[in-house]
Amino acid sequence: MSNSNQTFNLGSVEKIPLGQGRCYLVGTEEIAVFRQRDGRLFATQSRCPHKQGPLAEGIVGGGKVICPLHAHKFDLQSGTGSETGECVKVFAVCELRGELLLSL
Ligand code: FES
Repeated sequence: MSNSNQTFNLGSVEKIPLGQGRCYLVGTEEIAVFRQRDGRLFATQSRCPHKQGPLAEGIVGGGKVICPLHAHKFDLQSGTGSETGECVKVFAVCELRGELLLSL
């Protein structure tokens, strides 16, 4: 956890179709934000730790994302991966009046 949390407004939550992810450049970090079909929001680093697959293009559901390249899975809450030693950074994201707020 960083001790200098900063909050960024990423714009309308509607830019992410339900059940999908979208990649945002926040400062110098590429962040994947996911919007599950049930409306829950998650954010992780955008690149898969395996071979840099674009996680925002993965299949999202049940609190997990499946990398589009080789199908490794990552828990969106904890960042824990399905393969030993692989995990992703996770970030706090929420919706306020239809806008996405991300904390780095
Ligand atoms: S790059 Fe993501 S599983 Fe290989």
